[in-house]
Amino acid sequence: MSGGPILLFDSGIGGLTVLREARVLMPERRFVYVADDAGFPYGVWGEGDLTKRIVTMFEQLISDHEPAQCVIACNTASTLVLEPLRTAFPDMPFVGTVPAIKPASERTRSGLVSVLATPGTVRRAYTRDLIQSFAAQCHVRLVGSEYLAGLAEAYIRGDPVKHRQILAEIEPCFVEQDGQKTDIVVLACTHYPFLANQFRRLAPWPVDWLDPAEAIAKRAQSLLAPQDAVSEEPDIAVFTSNEPDFAVRRLLNGFGLALAPMRH
Ligand code: DGL
Repeated sequence: MSGGPILLFDSGIGGLTVLREARVLMPERRFVYVADDAGFPYGVWGEGDLTKRIVTMFEQLISDHEPAQCVIACNTASTLVLEPLRTAFPDMPFVGTVPAIKPASERTRSGLVSVLATPGTVRRAYTRDLIQSFAAQCHVRLVGSEYLAGLAEAYIRGDPVKHRQILAEIEPCFVEQDGQKTDIVVLACTHYPFLANQFRRLAPWPVDWLDPAEAIAKRAQSLLAPQDAVSEEPDIAVFTSNEPDFAVRRLLNGFGLALAPMRH
């Protein structure tokens, strides 16, 4: 399977922000993009149900696409199912996307860091452990946004998204304490980089918006042997609903992804 594609997985279109970086580093590779849009948004799922859903889905995805590697381009899924996936498929390399708390704690000058994520990611023991292990010296504010992933999808579709809707979701990230201000906001949901310019425009003061996509792509590349031959086959996208709307199809087209059916 080492010549197989890289399978990138998310609940929706957020993982495309990781695909963009992965292609820059590995232009010779073929990619299969999988969006579980029938399960979107993952942020509101209970942990047991979501784990079962994703592990079951990967049985089929691995047998259908025989990937060389799977990248879980979703924080909400990675902070929950990375270990169950590795246990269920011990021969498959999995790369996860987890909140970039360690780099944020190394870079902050004020010591005030915020993590903007889905309510699921904010609830995870995995996220709390990251803070304890790598950012105990910082003040970390966890902001679980119920609507931002959906707003990012709407924005990318070209649907109207009001500034005040976005501002209401990001405002809790901005903390002032003892004369210091938040200086880094971790984008801990792969959907959010699509809105990064809006965040910059609406932010009460300038901060670094930390997008981990490039670091994830580097990690994925580091685990693969170099591939000499460029793949002839096209990159594809699989949507679990099998019915992405016109705007999403247009987006996939722009990414050079041919839509392929998901067997159910
Ligand atoms: N893109 C996903 C993440 O990185 C979450 C979006 C959702 O709620 O499904 O967390």
